[in-house]
Amino acid sequence: MDFIKNMEWRYATKRFDTTRKIPRTELDLLKRSIQLTPSPYGLQLYKVIIIASQELKETLKPFSQHQHQITDCSHLFVFCNYSTVKDEYIDDYIRTKSGILHIDADRAAANGTSLKAKIAEKTPEQTTNWLKNQTYLALGSLLTACADLKIDACPMEGFEPKHYNNILRLEEKGLNACVIAATGYRSTEDKVQYNPKVRKPAGLLFEEI
Ligand SMILES: Cc1cc2nc3c(=O)[nH]c(=O)nc-3n(C[C@H](O)[C@H](O)[C@H](O)COP(=O)(O)O)c2cc1C
Repeated sequence: MDFIKNMEWRYATKRFDTTRKIPRTELDLLKRSIQLTPSPYGLQLYKVIIIASQELKETLKPFSQHQHQITDCSHLFVFCNYSTVKDEYIDDYIRTKSGILHIDADRAAANGTSLKAKIAEKTPEQTTNWLKNQTYLALGSLLTACADLKIDACPMEGFEPKHYNNILRLEEKGLNACVIAATGYRSTEDKVQYNPKVRKPAGLLFEEI
């Protein structure tokens, strides 16, 4: 199965080849993999900032534990969750869905109202967790698509969201930097690529009932 071979091939890349950039056609495929990611109710309550600017990557590096991947990668993906669920996000979604699926206005309005009521049942903490969790699923799609295209990636939580929010002016858009991924091509000098995978044995990881 190619999928498993690809998952064995991929690893959290520590050193990227700074001379290689992801071509536009492949970048568009990576974007499409994120776009197709399922999300609760289909709302997609996040935005993904894709950074190619070397200057911007240099600015972000000190707020990313000085990890080399930030500046050496081709493109840095910043997965940003919306900080709150505004009615307008749900209205936008209902409008889009109604247009595509030809749902009549009354039924669409009822859908929107029940969706807002359902989400309002969550505590603020539950809402925050719920919003952040959605970005991780999108990250998973990106990592899988990267492996399929033989593009290297490093998922990263080692950064300071507060500074990212500030530098990328995310707060004014109602966004929060949640998790990031450096993407590009591995350097032959990255020794980590030659390590065998460290994973829990299946007997510990799974329980079949
Ligand atoms: C959400 C998440 C955050 C991570 N953060 C970092 C990070 O900040 N820096 C880093 O070098 N690796 C980071 N990693 C990589 C993991 O350490 C790595 O995926 C794990 O050890 C398994 O190794 P493999 O991906 O090479 O198979 C992160 C992975 C995930 C999924």
